[in-house]
Amino acid sequence: MESREVTLEYIWVLVIIAVIAGFSASMAYYGFARGLNPSCTVYTMEELKARGIKLEPGVREVGPGIYEVTIEARQFVWIPREIVLRDPVRVTFRVYSTDVIHGLHIVGTSVNVMVFPGYVAEFVWEPPKGVSGEVLMICHEYCGIGHQLMWGKVVIERSGARLSGGG
Ligand code: CUA
Repeated sequence: MESREVTLEYIWVLVIIAVIAGFSASMAYYGFARGLNPSCTVYTMEELKARGIKLEPGVREVGPGIYEVTIEARQFVWIPREIVLRDPVRVTFRVYSTDVIHGLHIVGTSVNVMVFPGYVAEFVWEPPKGVSGEVLMICHEYCGIGHQLMWGKVVIERSGARLSGGG
């Protein structure tokens, strides 16, 4: 009797629907109830200009521990290559590319964004207290023959705490 196979087929269809419903519900839960959002907001250059923001690579301290960091990504370097933050509380990053797609990752932290040419990736990072000293900043998106050379560092200085020098 073929109905056994048909029944099994229905069961599998139901299993798949249940799995998809489960994943969708978990995404909705984390998105709405837990506030889990994409890692950055993306603006076009025009939108950024309209907000009155100029893109000049560098680090600016706009308040005690409040930083604005603008990074230009290009084959195969981050500009600036070294970012020094003293007792950072809240760091707003704006990262843009002048050539191809790059990916910014600050190793050992939650900072991990894609950088598309023509767009500015903006995100806020509140460095956890435990993060201090020199932290490697790498490109994690293959961007050409010198991709592996594309790295920099974030130096986090904590007052009252000695720099570990390596961590
Ligand atoms: Cu930039 Cu890989």
